[in-house]
Amino acid sequence: MCAKPRIVAIDGPAGSGKSTVCKQLAARLGFVLLDTGALYRAVALAARLAGVDWSREAAVVEVADRLVTDGELRLDVDPEARQSAGGTKVVLAGHDVSSQIRKPEISMGASRVSAYGGVRDALLELQRQLGTPSGSDRAGVVAEGRDIGTVVFPGAPVKFFLTASLEVRARRRQAELEQKGESIDFEQTLKEVALRDEQDRSRKVAPLKQAADARVVDSTGKTIDEVVAEMQRVVEDVLG
Ligand code: DC
Repeated sequence: MCAKPRIVAIDGPAGSGKSTVCKQLAARLGFVLLDTGALYRAVALAARLAGVDWSREAAVVEVADRLVTDGELRLDVDPEARQSAGGTKVVLAGHDVSSQIRKPEISMGASRVSAYGGVRDALLELQRQLGTPSGSDRAGVVAEGRDIGTVVFPGAPVKFFLTASLEVRARRRQAELEQKGESIDFEQTLKEVALRDEQDRSRKVAPLKQAADARVVDSTGKTIDEVVAEMQRVVEDVLG
């Protein structure tokens, strides 16, 4: 018998509180967290390490293809790894790059390389494999990204589109960076968040957009706890 995939697809812009919410929601539900942004970040970092400029589409796609074909890009999704920097342990050619991929310049790089169709194709199958429950501990998957409900898992039984005002998202981004010891001024953060939004929404390939059947959750003015509780109720309602 083939069980229905217990996938919760969560999309939304940078700073919507998505990563914190997804981490907590996955923990509460006992689901595996699949952070797909980490994969795009890893491709950006791998390109940089190989001396490939992010503007060189064909060369970046080649880097992504090679990483996937050679099995050099891994996400450690076991419960302990989830507690590490950024939530998911990301291993690139045997090295833990979990913290490195969270740096602001890699965020910009990830946004650039994620606009390339060839990079998205290379990562699509990998995301589907990572999101397919295989062990008894995999009761379900919380998959977060930008095109999870529209492209990666269009058949997911629960889909959310998490958002918040630009200002709130920039404040959160700033606080997140400050927590990591990086000081960055607010105006600068606001510009960066707006620029990434623009890049993510306007690209030709898989732009950030809400799936028609996604539930919109606006986290402006709500605590993380309130948002997680609201989403948990919906998931339990739908998945039982
Ligand atoms: O969620 P994040 O900030 O870690 O994502 C990094 C970049 O990757 C972001 O600019 C959007 C892109 N991305 C994407 O295009 N598709 C996804 N499924 C996940 C992330």
